[in-house]
Amino acid sequence: MRLVYVMDPIEGLLPDKDTTFAFQRAASARGHQNLHALLRDVFARDGEVFARVRPVHVGPPGSDAPCSLGDPFDVHLADVAAIFIRKDPPFDSDYLYTTLLLERLRGRTLLVNDPRGLRDANEKLYTLHFAGLTPRTLVTADRARILAFLEEVGGAAVIKPLDGAGGMGVLMLATGDKNNRAMLDLLTTEGRRLAMVQEYLPAVRQGDKRVLLLEGQVLGAINRVPRADDLRSNIHVGGRVEPTEVTPAERAVVAAMAPRLLQDGLFFVGLDFIGGKVTEVNVTSPTGIQELSRHAGRDVAADVIAWIERRASELDPHLKSIPPTIAG
Ligand SMILES: Nc1ncnc2c1ncn2[C@@H]1O[C@H](COP(=O)(O)OP(=O)(O)O)[C@@H](O)[C@H]1O
Ligand SMILES: [Mg+2]
Repeated sequence: MRLVYVMDPIEGLLPDKDTTFAFQRAASARGHQNLHALLRDVFARDGEVFARVRPVHVGPPGSDAPCSLGDPFDVHLADVAAIFIRKDPPFDSDYLYTTLLLERLRGRTLLVNDPRGLRDANEKLYTLHFAGLTPRTLVTADRARILAFLEEVGGAAVIKPLDGAGGMGVLMLATGDKNNRAMLDLLTTEGRRLAMVQEYLPAVRQGDKRVLLLEGQVLGAINRVPRADDLRSNIHVGGRVEPTEVTPAERAVVAAMAPRLLQDGLFFVGLDFIGGKVTEVNVTSPTGIQELSRHAGRDVAADVIAWIERRASELDPHLKSIPPTIAG
């Protein structure tokens, strides 16, 4: 199969951490061809969508020359088996327009995740669909309303920008803190932009659990424990990764959320759980599969590629007859 990855430039990604590389290693091991594209490489002509792609060669974990790109060529995206849309946030206008191009491929090429789902599911706001399963949450640009909410939830809250990722801009509000008002000015751009405020969940000290889902089913989970001197558990800002299990209560939450995720074409998803509550639904480029594989002692990315093989051939039975192209 030919698999296209719409993603960031490879230079900025860590070969031993990045989940897209894990997919590419697993796909290559199964004889498929990996093709890299940036957002700007996707183009449309007369209603058909194409991309200028480059073959990706991903080395084994820990190797000195971990990843490189081959010579570019154009592909008709309706002719490839699947497209992974794995561009990191922010979700800006370039990202939006690219999802509108990829939209043309629905039903012809397997899209992970679906471009309409990606547009609909802001990673913070999507939690509003599951109010009973999340911490108490306020979304507003109104600073006075946020300060009143802070008192209502007991004097400790977390404020986050709607377009952030990797812990960026996530701050703690606490009654009496003289930085509160300045932080609200910053995060709401002086009362003009929406921000999300959640009750502070003290269980965050035990960790923020990333549960990876594939088509609504649990693939596995990793726990991310924040540094002693930080609120944020993200790996990107120094969160320590440890093995963990998914509890029956968390599985029940997943089961409750799955129908909506599937309806929105959100197949590869990372839920963030703190103290059993869902704080964020990661859909653009959820990560954690390499850490999960190390803990599980098997390649979890291979499960995802095996699923792609099944789903893509259901969509287009002829894919089965296409011989594997150049491995790597
Ligand atoms: N309601 C909350 N209570 C306690 N800590 C939180 C809460 N929400 C987020 N955090 C902390 O902030 C980090 C980042 O928040 P998150 O909502 O996952 O945004 P992102 O990962 O996109 O930056 C989490 O890993 C967690 O450590
Ligand atoms: Mg998160």
